[in-house]
Amino acid sequence: MSGEEFPMRVIHTLAELRAALADQPRPVFVPTMGNLHAGHLSLVREARRHGGPVVVSIFVNRLQFLPHEDFDQYPRTLERDCALLEPEGCDIVFAPSERELYPQPQSYKVAPPPALADLLEGHFRPGFFTGVCTVVMKLFQCVQPSVAVFGQKDYQQLQVIQGMVEQFAMPIRVVGAPTVRAEDGLALSSRNGYLGAQEREEAIALSTALRELAHGARDVTQSLAELEAAADQALRSRGWAPDYLTLRRRSDLLPPTDAQRVAGEPLVALGAARLGATRLIDNLEC
Ligand code: PAF
Repeated sequence: MSGEEFPMRVIHTLAELRAALADQPRPVFVPTMGNLHAGHLSLVREARRHGGPVVVSIFVNRLQFLPHEDFDQYPRTLERDCALLEPEGCDIVFAPSERELYPQPQSYKVAPPPALADLLEGHFRPGFFTGVCTVVMKLFQCVQPSVAVFGQKDYQQLQVIQGMVEQFAMPIRVVGAPTVRAEDGLALSSRNGYLGAQEREEAIALSTALRELAHGARDVTQSLAELEAAADQALRSRGWAPDYLTLRRRSDLLPPTDAQRVAGEPLVALGAARLGATRLIDNLEC
């Protein structure tokens, strides 16, 4: 099966998916919530490099949204998404309904370790990573991939999924693909579509603040708290409401010591902030 030789199939049921994959090598999988942009398409291109049919799922997962978040508003654009996926060589779009994926209330959940999942995104969006892990575990059972591709833009999500796959000994290689940015540097995100024209211009300030943080990463004349407060203040003064702007160790997303900052410990600057009604996240390894 290859997107170039066979027409892409759009499949809505698990039974049909299993039948379509029955005589195939294990697929390469890209889970998404749809409303696709160039960032997602780069994940599909990465998927194609690994051989095997490429399956992209499109499912807006209620379990990972808090009651006040944008689950209802989240754009459902299946037709447009399929038109974007076909020329990229996607073989199967798996777009189950909620009833299909959650025929009963999903009372069995996958709870990732609080030491990782209650930090940062998990602190501001309690239960988020349980929702993500539960749906990803379920999608993995449906698709049975050999490789799964996730964007590095969701840095903590990628680590949480890598940990889940490792600890459950799932025979899946998790691949992280680099963040795709607009010309001005804004990380592509489905939620960028919520931004008005002025907000869109302003949105670049988040990656600028992260660059500043990354710039100070090795300079211990400024404490971590001072660096982070300066980044927070820089965004607040422009009208943003930051949740966090922080420098962390890549290995476990905990704060580095000054000695580690000096010694070249691999770090990452991570940020999440609200601009008007839109919450954006980004990160920069340093
Ligand atoms: O990154 C996303 O789009 C979602 O969190 C995912 C991995 C598709 C699970 O719903």
